[in-house]
Amino acid sequence: MAVDGPSGTGKSTVSRKVAAALNAGYLDTGAMYRIVTLAVLNAGIDPADEVGVANLLPSLMFASPVDPAEQVHTLAGEDVGRSIRSVHVTTAVSEVSANPAVREWLKERQQQLAGAGRMVVEGRDIGTVIAPDAALKIYLTASEEVRASRRYKEVGAAGRTPDLAVVRAAIAHRDNYDSNRLHAPLQAAADAIVIDSTDLDIAQSVEAVLVLAAQRGIRW
Ligand code: DC
Repeated sequence: MAVDGPSGTGKSTVSRKVAAALNAGYLDTGAMYRIVTLAVLNAGIDPADEVGVANLLPSLMFASPVDPAEQVHTLAGEDVGRSIRSVHVTTAVSEVSANPAVREWLKERQQQLAGAGRMVVEGRDIGTVIAPDAALKIYLTASEEVRASRRYKEVGAAGRTPDLAVVRAAIAHRDNYDSNRLHAPLQAAADAIVIDSTDLDIAQSVEAVLVLAAQRGIRW
């Protein structure tokens, strides 16, 4: 199952819960782009340096968890769950993920993991590029205002003191960048089903996906 969409739609939480309900695996491809970005920043490489970033890739060692109940992200054996969500990484991740060498490199890993089947894979290009034959493609979206206010609450809950206007501008900037890049931009696949979660909470969004999955005969 492919779940794509912009930031702040509840995509990760919804996908994880859907995977748990279906007894399936869950792959957070955004976390993979965040780990590469963290490694780029740690190595002091400019995220815009396409060749420098590409040269770093073969040395990267990181785990991609697929258990929806146990999402521990490591880089060179160290738990990086918190640092991949930092402002630094979030600011640089769009540029790193627009790099075609990074996309090709991660595509291979993602297709290998998704190829095992019974997997909910979440990202921006899953239905279009990574798993074009997915049994069900969901494009989860919500109004920019609601997405910004969800992200604002998340950032506040993480102990930071955000400014709503800044959070909204950052979300708009990142989505604009992700949607307009040359390689595998954020877009709904032609055969994706769009779920607008503007007026839905997480449980209702999960239910909407599970109903569609049942209609497709997905009973993993
Ligand atoms: O879902 P997220 O916010 O953790 O994703 C972080 C960034 O990674 C996002 O701004 C775009 C990029 N990304 C991507 O280009 N392709 C994916 N399949 C998943 C994420």
